[in-house]
Amino acid sequence: MDKQKYISEINRLRKEKNAIIMAHFYQTADIQDIADVVGDSLALAQKAAKTDADIIVLCGVHFMGETAKILSPDKKVLIPDLDAGCSLADSCPADEFEKFVKAHPDHTVVSYVNTSAAVKALTDIVVTSTNAKKIVDQLPENEKIIFGPDRNLGGYINSVTGRNMLLWDGACHVHEQFSVEKLSKLKQENPDAEILAHPECKSTILKMADYVGSTQGILDYSTKSDKNKFLVVTESGIIHQMEKNNPEKTFIPVPPEVEEGSCTACNECIFMRKNTLEKLYLCLRDETPEILIDDELQKKAVRPIVRMLEMS
Ligand code: 13P
Ligand code: SF4
Repeated sequence: MDKQKYISEINRLRKEKNAIIMAHFYQTADIQDIADVVGDSLALAQKAAKTDADIIVLCGVHFMGETAKILSPDKKVLIPDLDAGCSLADSCPADEFEKFVKAHPDHTVVSYVNTSAAVKALTDIVVTSTNAKKIVDQLPENEKIIFGPDRNLGGYINSVTGRNMLLWDGACHVHEQFSVEKLSKLKQENPDAEILAHPECKSTILKMADYVGSTQGILDYSTKSDKNKFLVVTESGIIHQMEKNNPEKTFIPVPPEVEEGSCTACNECIFMRKNTLEKLYLCLRDETPEILIDDELQKKAVRPIVRMLEMS
C-alpha cells in the first residue's frame, strides 16, 4: 500500500472503531500528522485519563502505553510495536529498585514516568519533565526523597529546587550522547542561536542551555522567543512541530558524541522510531499488539500517577 492508502485506511478504521490516536513528539512526522493528539508524556497521560474513545492507540514507547492502560484499564490500549522500549526505563529493573527503596524506608519515592508499571507500583509520586519541579516544590522542605531513574533529570531538579534527592543511577542513551564539543562549535558558528535542552541531558550540556525543559516546554519556548534560530538538544522528532508552529524560524539538531560516520542519526530514539505508519495501520486493523496489565499491579501503579495528575 502507498502512504495515502495507509492514511485513508487509518482514518476509516479510527472512525469505525471509535479509536483515538495519540503520538509523542518523537514520532516520525507522518505519525504526528495523523494523530488526534500530539504531546509530551504528561499531555498523553492526561488525555488517556479523560478520553471517551473505546480504543487508545499510543504511538510512543511501551511505558507510555502502560501509563495509558493504568489510567484507563477498561479501554483497549494498542501500541504499533511492542518492542518500542526505553533505555532509561530499562536502566531501572523493578527488583533492584525495590532493594534501593527498602534500604531507605524513611524516603518518599518520586519516579520519572519513564519507568515500568512495576517500578511505578513501588513509587509514591510519578513526575514527568514538565511537572517534576512543581511537584518536588510541593513536598515539605525536610522530606527525604529518592528520585529514579534518571540521574540527569534528578540532578537538574536538585539544582533548581535546592533539594538533595537521592538519585538512582540511570540515563537515556539518546540524551547522554550529546556532545559538549559539537554544541560549542555549533554555538560559535551560530552566535545568535538559543540553546534548548531536555533535562535528560548531562549537566555539562544543561549549563550551556538558554532553556531547559520538557518537549512541550521546548516547543512553547521556541514559539514565544523573539530569537529566530535554535540549537535543539533533544530527540530530533520534536523539530517537526517546531517548524510547523514557526515556519520562519531555523532549528538545528545538535549531533551526538559519536565517531564520524559510525551513526547516521543517533539523536533519534531507536525505540520511538520503531513505530511506522504501516504498523499503526496494522495495529488498528488487527487490534494488536495490546498492552495488558495485571489487575493488582494496575491498582498499585495507578495511585502515584493519579497523585501526579492532582499535583500538576
Ligand atoms: P517529555 O515528557 O519531555 O516528552 O519526555 C519524554 C521522553 O522520553 C524524553 O526522552
Ligand atoms: Fe526513553 Fe530516551 Fe527514547 Fe525518551 S529518548 S523514550 S528516555 S530511550
